[in-house]
Amino acid sequence: MVYIFHSDLAGSVVNRALVDPVAELDDVLVRNMYAQYPDYAIGVKAEYELIERADAVVLQFPLYWYSTPSLMKKWF
Ligand SMILES: Cc1cc2nc3c(=O)[nH]c(=O)nc-3n(C[C@H](O)[C@H](O)[C@H](O)COP(=O)(O)O)c2cc1C
Repeated sequence: MVYIFHSDLAGSVVNRALVDPVAELDDVLVRNMYAQYPDYAIGVKAEYELIERADAVVLQFPLYWYSTPSLMKKWF
């Protein structure tokens, strides 16, 4: 399971170049978290259920001020 936290993935160059090829793999689920939760209203129960099904988790995000995007902080 790949979690991509990018507030403007459509306008991204670097992160899209990394995540787009991965999204085509059969056994990988890529989750665009800003598209999933544009209002930051994270479905906690649904998130627990999804992450429990993952064999491995990848967190992908651009650095924002030496830290992570705000939605990712809330998701943590
Ligand atoms: C508000 C903001 C803060 C950023 N802070 C950092 C930073 O602290 N360190 C860094 O290396 N890049 C920083 N960047 C650059 C982003 O990480 C940059 O968008 C990313 O490397 C390029 O990826 P993208 O083409 O997928 O957007 C910042 C960008 C923005 C918009």
